[in-house]
Amino acid sequence: MEQLLNIGKVVKRSGVAASTLHYYETRGLIQSVRSPGNQRRYHRDVLRRVALIKVAQNLGVSLSEIEQAFKQLPEGRIAKQRDWQNLAKVWQLQLDQRISQLTQLRGQLSHCIGCGCLSVEDCPLRNPADQLATKGSGAQLLDGGMSVTS
Ligand code: FES
Repeated sequence: MEQLLNIGKVVKRSGVAASTLHYYETRGLIQSVRSPGNQRRYHRDVLRRVALIKVAQNLGVSLSEIEQAFKQLPEGRIAKQRDWQNLAKVWQLQLDQRISQLTQLRGQLSHCIGCGCLSVEDCPLRNPADQLATKGSGAQLLDGGMSVTS
């Protein structure tokens, strides 16, 4: 029979505060069961989940994205190496996309250094990929609900 961990052991072994564990639990990222004394008890795989959350956050993956990814993990059994590898593949793709976006942004920033105009028409940082042009002609910022005060 598996020995369950109390919250103090999970805190010590994961390096994550109890309040953070509670937060993860409210978001459904980890689960606990209750002891006869109504205290939280955790299966050992919670340590892997917490470690993965921290690694993913270090990679820039948001808690919402982690939440979505964890929904793909099996319920009722401990996640296996293959399950974790599948998560890693999804996050690798997301990371590749972010790197691509950041590389593009860095190039645009180089263009803007020394300029400072922040023009809606000309500045790629102010209006990335000319998003306003896709909304049609006219004063898109004003039509979009921005108020003008005098
Ligand atoms: S600040 Fe002038 S083009 Fe971006």
